[in-house]
Amino acid sequence: MNQKPFIALDFPTWEQTKEFLEPFNEPINIKIGMELYLQNGPKVLEQLIKKDYRIFLDLKLHDIPNTVYGAMKGLAQFDIELINVHAAGGKEMMEKALEGLNAGTPFSRNRPKLIGVTQLTSTSEEQMQSEQLIERSLNESVIHYAKLTKEAGLDGVVCSPLETKGIREACGDEFLKVTPGIRLAENQVQDQKRIATPAKARELGSTHIVVGRSITKAENPVEAYHAVLNEWEGLL
Ligand code: C5P
Repeated sequence: MNQKPFIALDFPTWEQTKEFLEPFNEPINIKIGMELYLQNGPKVLEQLIKKDYRIFLDLKLHDIPNTVYGAMKGLAQFDIELINVHAAGGKEMMEKALEGLNAGTPFSRNRPKLIGVTQLTSTSEEQMQSEQLIERSLNESVIHYAKLTKEAGLDGVVCSPLETKGIREACGDEFLKVTPGIRLAENQVQDQKRIATPAKARELGSTHIVVGRSITKAENPVEAYHAVLNEWEGLL
């Protein structure tokens, strides 16, 4: 599967979101994360669904299984393509998330694909070892979480493009590898740590990429989007 990049709409208000989207005269994929969703609620999601965007709802749920079940059952009413949980919430939590989505998806629609966040792309190996007390390499931790996610029946993971090869070997080609931490060669890294260019991500086996600030903070976001898209689709 080679999907168009998902643009991360990390804006605080609906007005800023609308203003950003206005110059795009083509179908694009968008990611709605906690900044936009938590400050504007489901109505922002409803507005964007009406406009026919393909949507990744990135709320990274992480709570007890019963609570995640209820939240996913409710969110399944929305026509979204991808949704996620933290794999660190555990196998039972992920199974319940999937059950909730299955229970809440209307009959007329496909269930949103459910993916597990492995280790955030802003986490370094040193941070993981000292803060989470995981005495393994970051790559081992990511692959462990990917396998757990697969065992729980989920459709894939969110990971760094640098980890997709190992995940492909452990979980197969069909298992989704959705990768943020994407930067064009000329961009600043900011808080991300495990990054790659769109072309490198493609070469390494990402099935989807998520791009935020390289597009949203660009002087010309539509141009920046096309630079990302062309690299991702292999036109450069
Ligand atoms: O601006 P930037 O391209 O770094 O944005 C990346 C987006 O992907 C952000 O919205 C962030 O919340 C999200 N994300 C991430 N790392 C993960 C999962 C999601 O950066 N592991």
